[in-house]
Amino acid sequence: MSTTPGVPAPLRVAVVGCGVIGRLHAEVAAQNGDLDVVALVDPNPDRTAAVADQLVAAGRPAPRRFGSLGEALEAGGVDVVSICTPSGEHAGLALEALEAGTHVVVEKPLDVAIEPARKLRDAAAARPDQVVAVISQHRHDPSAIAVHRALEAGRFGRVTSAVANVDWYRTQEYYDSGAWRGTWALDGGGALMNQGVHTLDLLLWFLGEPVDVVASTARLGHERIEVEDVAVAIVRFASGALATLHASTTVYPDLGVRLQVHGTDGSAVIEADELTFFHARDAEDGDWTADQSADEIGAAAAGSVRGALDPQESHVAQYGSSHGTQWADVVAAIRERRAPWVTLDDGLRALATVRAVYLSATLGERVRVADVVDGRYDGIATRTGEDVRTGVPA
Ligand SMILES: NC(=O)c1ccc[n+]([C@@H]2O[C@H](COP(=O)([O-])OP(=O)(O)OC[C@H]3O[C@@H](n4cnc5c(N)ncnc54)[C@H](O)[C@@H]3O)[C@@H](O)[C@H]2O)c1
Repeated sequence: MSTTPGVPAPLRVAVVGCGVIGRLHAEVAAQNGDLDVVALVDPNPDRTAAVADQLVAAGRPAPRRFGSLGEALEAGGVDVVSICTPSGEHAGLALEALEAGTHVVVEKPLDVAIEPARKLRDAAAARPDQVVAVISQHRHDPSAIAVHRALEAGRFGRVTSAVANVDWYRTQEYYDSGAWRGTWALDGGGALMNQGVHTLDLLLWFLGEPVDVVASTARLGHERIEVEDVAVAIVRFASGALATLHASTTVYPDLGVRLQVHGTDGSAVIEADELTFFHARDAEDGDWTADQSADEIGAAAAGSVRGALDPQESHVAQYGSSHGTQWADVVAAIRERRAPWVTLDDGLRALATVRAVYLSATLGERVRVADVVDGRYDGIATRTGEDVRTGVPA
């Protein structure tokens, strides 16, 4: 454990929202010797009790339990607040923590609306000594790092296009499992805002500044949700590159995630977080058919770390180890007084691009991402495209 003057060691963490992902954050922090989970926050006391039991069973001290973030901040002794609540509460709670003087980790998406996210960004800019990171754990996947490095080194030549497919399946029971799921107010969208935002964020990391979006959405395979289970979009980037984006939670059977990136001198494909194809002209030995995937895949895999807990119990086993890697980066950012790997601006750009998709689908027009960030569309409600089975507009 490294120490920095004025920065406690270990850092004391409050996990806010103790559901599926809050439990993972507590587990990841418990595995990091530089983090101590000292507080759990959830209005549902059963949730805080279950996570506290899990930490104690893992040999950690019992954290204090609170019903609201305000109570936990009032009690004091917290250095980092981790926001793991339903998405529509992210930016507001993050702002509360920031203003109380703590560092903040916010689960994806940064929020469901631009206004609170922008407010958080402006408040954070006025507090440069506090780290605010947005979870986008797949940026820490060895496959994503390998592709990003190749792009940064120019190994794919001029980047021309990308294809992002999030072909997932979520049951009706999944949406019925929480009152907030599938609502505009708290989930903020469906297949793209909740599930596809991971892949969209990688797309933006790889291709750079998104300029505008043309999109359609539909709700075709689920009931009792307000939001889309199919989103299709064309994204144009400042470089001139074009990407197609398809995000669905009604692909049966689940085909997983596939992200292709193409340039004049190379291409890469990531499938289910693994690099399955890589070819750059610079490494050819005059043989066009040479397959470089194995080397790059090997190099990427060498950096990979897998969770070590009981696979039946462990959320780390379920979600992979990249949350742990991102938390390690947050700790390093705090200690080294530097920006985290995934910043608030990154989170805002991903959120604005998702909102641009929904706005384009709602308004039937091309939407500029910068206009979304700047507030041109503030207050405009989005809706899901017409349900073709009933013909009734959603
Ligand atoms: N990074 C990932 O891979 C990943 C995976 C799953 C979920 N998530 C994100 O995590 C967030 C939570 O998802 P989940 O599946 O854990 O949901 P969940 O419903 O399982 O848990 C949410 C918890 O937050 C609590 N809560 C609600 N309002 C609160 C408040 N004001 N203060 C404290 N606690 C509050 C609820 O009682 C509940 O226990 C969502 O934004 C989701 O997008 C990220």
